Amino acid sequence: MENDAVRPREGGVSSGPCQTGVVLEARGVTKTYELDGVEVRALCGVDLQVCAGEMLAIMGPSGSGKSTLMHIVGLLDRPTSGTVTIDGVDVSRMEPNELAAVRNKRIGFVFQSFNLLARTTAAANVELPLVYAGVPAAERTRRARAALERVGLGERLHHMPNQLSGGQQQRVAIARALVTEPSIVLADEPTGNLDSRSGIEVMAFLQELNREEGVTIVIVTHDAHVARHAQRVVEIKDGRIVNDVRVTDRIDAKAELDALHEAGDGGAGTAVAEHGAEPERPDERASVGSGERP
Ligand SMILES: Nc1ncnc2c1ncn2[C@@H]1O[C@H](COP(=O)(O)OP(=O)(O)OP(=O)(O)O)[C@@H](O)[C@H]1O
Ligand SMILES: [Mg+2]
Repeated sequence: MENDAVRPREGGVSSGPCQTGVVLEARGVTKTYELDGVEVRALCGVDLQVCAGEMLAIMGPSGSGKSTLMHIVGLLDRPTSGTVTIDGVDVSRMEPNELAAVRNKRIGFVFQSFNLLARTTAAANVELPLVYAGVPAAERTRRARAALERVGLGERLHHMPNQLSGGQQQRVAIARALVTEPSIVLADEPTGNLDSRSGIEVMAFLQELNREEGVTIVIVTHDAHVARHAQRVVEIKDGRIVNDVRVTDRIDAKAELDALHEAGDGGAGTAVAEHGAEPERPDERASVGSGERP
């Protein structure tokens, strides 16, 4: 079978082979960590194909190997065995500097804990990948500003991370991931540290990016509701893919946000509406030093 990796193993609807081409592929990937002489098998032979322009969610219990897999397909780490290809090119044997160049050009990362540099402005955080890419200063400033405006933070360019709300910090991290115009965004629990509303805002942004610009998105989440924003869900358990299905009842985050607005932020009794008590414009919350609440 040509596309064994996307065969459903436990019910669900087959996700089928990639019609748009495979942008990212793991083949027989294993990862064994050694810690104090004890081997930890984090991945035990993962085959995964990610289609160009797809939005894929990876779910699985804590310790099942999700972050390890993201780090390996995102070229932040190497597999113990097996291969990783990006656009059909085997990156397994690339030299570190070559690998870094491919990563910087093609892949944007978003992490649960934002991973912003403290005591560094939002704009400077977003510029950082462009510094590594050797982009001249004036262009860096322009592109960082544009990326921050895109995520609705044009008024927060000179705020430090601790002067921003969690949702805003994650939007800075998204702007940083996008500033190099990657064709793949890998997001490891991007909503894990956010309240529901901020989480939906992040998902709305990722969906828009996927839909309007064809960016391939892989998102790791513990939350089945978050996973239903993707087109396909892969489940991983004990370092193995145990399920791979197409989402039949996909959620549109933009519609969720509109529904929250219509509910008047008053809390309509649903898990999502609970957070309707948040300020209507969360980006108005974070002006440290003003001492004011909106
Ligand atoms: N650097 C490391 N050294 C040793 N063991 C590690 C290392 N990183 C991860 N592991 C182990 O590998 C396994 C998979 O870890 P991983 O971080 O990929 O899980 P995860 O699915 O992302 O979990 P979570 O949902 O909690 O983030 C775990 O058993 C973990 O303890
Ligand atoms: Mg993890």
